[in-house]
Amino acid sequence: MKMAIILYSGTGNTRGVAERLATKVRARGDQAEIREITVTGDPGKGADAFQLASTPSTDDADVVVLASPVMAFSLSPVMKAYLDQAKPPQRPVRVVITQHFPRSWMGGRQALGWMTRALKRNGTSVAEAMIVNWTSKAREKQIEDGTDRLAALV
Ligand SMILES: Cc1cc2nc3c(=O)[nH]c(=O)nc-3n(C[C@H](O)[C@H](O)[C@H](O)COP(=O)(O)O)c2cc1C
Repeated sequence: MKMAIILYSGTGNTRGVAERLATKVRARGDQAEIREITVTGDPGKGADAFQLASTPSTDDADVVVLASPVMAFSLSPVMKAYLDQAKPPQRPVRVVITQHFPRSWMGGRQALGWMTRALKRNGTSVAEAMIVNWTSKAREKQIEDGTDRLAALV
């Protein structure tokens, strides 16, 4: 089985979680590929301040993971643009969200809600999701348990 982890990461947090997930999948003998969405410009300045430089494909994957940071109490505009421009997978996806604040109502849940609605418009859904609160004491457990759950679905 092949898992494709499509991610955007500005400062490395989301990439780090994706790598933990990929390592678990590979340890079991399955394939996991990390595919980064890259941009030109500065997504931190809003949707008009950047362009997608690469929109990785999910066509060849059996399992798709979409991984993104929270920005401005919502899903990163980079992942929003990706969902808009790339063809989202036509099957349920696994979702990783990372955010700075310790509580998920400070952006994580809103980001997941945005992702869920965008996928629904395209006829699919969120199969499983994890939110990592970077400044929470529970962060390490969130990453460990969340990557276990997402890896187990392969
Ligand atoms: C422009 C911008 C806006 C952000 N807004 C939020 C926010 O509303 N809530 C939050 O918890 N974290 C916010 N963050 C923090 C990131 O979500 C957090 O640091 C995340 O883990 C970064 O992931 P990355 O290192 O993969 O880019 C923001 C970061 C940036 C750059």
